[in-house]
Amino acid sequence: MKRIILPGLLVTYSFAMGSGQPRLRRNPTNDELGPPQARSEMEKRILATLAGAIQAQELYANVPEPDGRMLRLLTESTGAKHVVEIGTSTGLSGLWFCMALDRTRGRLTTFEADTHRAAVAQEHFRKAGVEKMVTLVQGDAHQNVARLKEPIDIVFLDADKEGYIDYLNKLLPLVRPGGLILAHNVDMVPEYMKTVNARADLETLVYSQGGGLAVTLKKR
Ligand SMILES: C[S@@+](CC[C@H](N)C(=O)[O-])C[C@H]1O[C@@H](n2cnc3c(N)ncnc32)[C@H](O)[C@@H]1O
Repeated sequence: MKRIILPGLLVTYSFAMGSGQPRLRRNPTNDELGPPQARSEMEKRILATLAGAIQAQELYANVPEPDGRMLRLLTESTGAKHVVEIGTSTGLSGLWFCMALDRTRGRLTTFEADTHRAAVAQEHFRKAGVEKMVTLVQGDAHQNVARLKEPIDIVFLDADKEGYIDYLNKLLPLVRPGGLILAHNVDMVPEYMKTVNARADLETLVYSQGGGLAVTLKKR
């Protein structure tokens, strides 16, 4: 059995060798896995709010569902207590974080420059019943992150792409060892990728489905 990864195709194929004909297999994509199943009333309410926002088109450049599910999975599995998000938009990625933070008894601090999108996000947080877990800071995040003083378990970068390195420099000192920096739309931030890959105190891998997510560990 030989396994190869074909760069750019984002799928892994397995070849069964030695049996005459190689058999070509493909790993399933997230779209083939089916929708998430709600386990609690809170999950049900958050999933309903996400579906309602999509139906009402209260959207702006939000993460696709597989990315949101990955954010939730990373947050819950690491037991994160404090997530900092740069780029709230209308709150969809924030809702995925809250699904995990409800379990970890954590909280989300999220930054958004646009007044209208910030207001829509607040309404989504209220509808989902997670508003007590969320602090939304409206205005330019490059300035406002300077007010953060408490340790961070996960940073999610999803605002102005040219600003990722500045956000990294400002927030990394607050990220606890073992914490994660997640950067969305990795194809749009080559300089950021070069920066994190060049550092011995960081370890980065890419989740290539959806919008593409660089997952960086701040080593212990
Ligand atoms: C890609 S969207 C975020 C999507 C959101 N994370 C989601 O998945 O629901 C980027 C957002 O970043 C905001 N943004 C851009 N530059 C910003 C800045 N300097 N400070 C705060 N927010 C900013 C934009 O207004 C926009 O709403």
